[in-house]
Amino acid sequence: SKKIVIAIDGFSSTGKSTVARKLAKELGYIYVDTGAMYRAVTYFALENGFISEHKLDKEGLISELENIHITFKFNEELGFAEVYLNGENIEADIRTLKVSQHVSHIAEISEVRRKLVQQQQLMGKDKGVVMDGRDIATVVFPDAELKIFMTATAEKRATRRYKELLERGHNLSYDDVLKNVITRDEIDSTREDSPLVKSDDAIEFDNSEMSIEEQLSSIRQLVKEKL
Ligand code: C5P
Repeated sequence: SKKIVIAIDGFSSTGKSTVARKLAKELGYIYVDTGAMYRAVTYFALENGFISEHKLDKEGLISELENIHITFKFNEELGFAEVYLNGENIEADIRTLKVSQHVSHIAEISEVRRKLVQQQQLMGKDKGVVMDGRDIATVVFPDAELKIFMTATAEKRATRRYKELLERGHNLSYDDVLKNVITRDEIDSTREDSPLVKSDDAIEFDNSEMSIEEQLSSIRQLVKEKL
């Protein structure tokens, strides 16, 4: 049967990954969380001293890019793929507020983007992939058969992310999470290289008042039309 590429872009904490993951599972497609890849590079930069006192050693990081190997491995128990950096499982390490606070500056670096985009294109070359991120429809797979652009109010998104972080045992305030969501969207939308913008041919979903099941059933319908 025909396989397609499904690109899901949008603002931070819109629940893209939850929907993308479930959709991929239903379709028997590969799911790629590209945000995890930018987070992995950020984690590497933090661990190796390229980020300190809010200073970023861009050139240093760029010179180490060839030593950064990001892979995904499916965890049967969890039912999703976890991210590995040079063979080490860093799934939990990349979901911290600290990584969230630096990742948008790492994602501005063109050399970083070029490396990750190339890997993403390889992962989707045989189609049958659901990929979520910021530039999937515009840069990574401009020919994707189905493009979705997710939005929701900043407050809804911060509330979701806040609950998620609390459940994982992080100790932080709602205001910090809200601030991070707003700042990240601002940086991601205004950067020079591959900014977050809705592709003209993407279908926009404001999911502020939509359940995951409602989103999935709408997207299922759209997929059916493409197959
Ligand atoms: O999706 P997630 O919120 O985990 O992404 C973290 C950050 O990675 C984003 O805020 C953005 O700066 C960057 N990113 C990107 N391009 C992508 C995916 C994520 O620039 N395709």
